[in-house]
This record gives sequence, C-alpha cells and structure tokens, in this order.
Amino acid sequence: MHKVVEPKILYFGTPVVLISTLNEDNSVNLAPMSSAWWLNQSCMLGMSSTSQTVINLLRERECVLNLPSSDLAHAVDRLALLTGRNPVPERKANVGYQFEPNKFETAKLTPQDSDLIRPPRVAECPVQLEAIVEQVHNFELPSSLKAIEVKIIRVHIDEQILMTGENNYIDPEKWSPLIMNFCEFFGLSSKLHPSRLAPVFGPSPGSVSKSN
Ligand SMILES: Cc1cc2nc3c(=O)[nH]c(=O)nc-3n(C[C@H](O)[C@H](O)[C@H](O)COP(=O)(O)O)c2cc1C
Repeated sequence: MHKVVEPKILYFGTPVVLISTLNEDNSVNLAPMSSAWWLNQSCMLGMSSTSQTVINLLRERECVLNLPSSDLAHAVDRLALLTGRNPVPERKANVGYQFEPNKFETAKLTPQDSDLIRPPRVAECPVQLEAIVEQVHNFELPSSLKAIEVKIIRVHIDEQILMTGENNYIDPEKWSPLIMNFCEFFGLSSKLHPSRLAPVFGPSPGSVSKSN
C-alpha cells in the first residue's frame, strides 16, 4: 500500500561535497552541501543564495568541489550549522547557525593549494575538483535557491582509489563516498550486481568515449 504524504525534504542520497571558495577579503570559506549532480565534465550545484558560498561563487566564479570519504563524517558534521556569512541571516540564526570565519580549523581539515584557481583544496578528501562557474539559474522561484552550473577544469584523485594499472579510472570498490541520505550520513554498501554499462565506460579494450 502506498500512502500520499508530504515529506519536508526529498534528499534521496547524494554524495557530500565540501565546497571551498574565497571570501571578498581573500580568506577561505568551506561549506558542506549535497544537492549536486554530475554530467560529463560538469556539475550542477543546488544552493541557497543566502549562503556565503553562493555569494563567493557569483563574485569569484571559481571553487573546489572536495568529495570526502565516509570516514570524514565527523569533520563534515563539525561544519554543520555554521556559516561564513556575518551577520548570520535571520532565518539561519533562528535555527542555531553561527558565524565561523575559520572553517578549515574548525573541521580540523588541511588546505592544499590548487593548480589553476585560487581557492584551496581539502587535503584529506580523496577527490578534489577544481571548477569554474559557467551559468547560474534561478530555481523554484520565488525562493532564494540557485542551480549553479560549474565546469570541472582539473581533477585530483588520491592514487589509492585508482584502478590498479589505470591512471584515469577510479575504482568504485576502493572508495566509500560520504552520502547524505535524508539529512543523515551514510556510506555505500558493496557492489550488488554486475552492471552492463560498466564495460562501456570502463577501461576494458574497445571502450567508447565518455562524452554524452
Ligand atoms: C551534509 C550537509 C549537506 C548540505 N547540503 C546543502 C545543499 O545541498 N544546499 C544548500 O544550500 N545547503 C546545504 N547544506 C547547508 C549549508 O552547509 C549551510 O547553508 C551553510 O551555512 C553554508 O555555509 P556558508 O554560508 O558559509 O556558505 C548542507 C549542510 C550539510 C551539513
């Protein structure tokens, strides 16, 4: 039996992304988000324009998308209910958000220089994607939400999660991304079933181009 319900959120499980951006005074902001999806070499980020991250993205037009492993849940959780915005927007202050200018220190994470852009990477994250803003779309008007399209211009991967003997392929069995599932932190289970798509995109002989 299905029931008609009105859930407050529809977060069906997506990877957590730690976005690093530069503030106007060149200090660094770091914020967790998880409304992100990927297509080819681009990513669409769903974020509220009341966040310091979106303010920074609109001005600087660059960011690093750092993907934590499931064992970094505690670090990500230290950043929850914090904002780099001062003063804290009223709606956030009302639910307990506080201003925090030193997010890397608070999360006990380490900044690492990027190659092509100014915001730093998060050294502890095995996937670090340098990205530039391509387009900004309003989302669900009249809300403050934005869908921000970013293009990945450099990919850094911890060699421990690469397929053995392959430089350009991540081995999904060697990595457990941190997943936000209905506001709770999850990891991924092990592989459930072989995929008929895998050989098409994988490193097997005769594989086809990754473009969509
Ligand atoms: C795990 C996690 C996932 C989140 N996902 C999103 C998201 O997808 N979009 C969003 O706007 N805020 C999201 N938030 C809330 C932001 O982190 C929050 O608005 C934060 O204040 C943004 O920081 P900033 O103002 O310094 O940019 C998430 C928070 C956590 C802890």
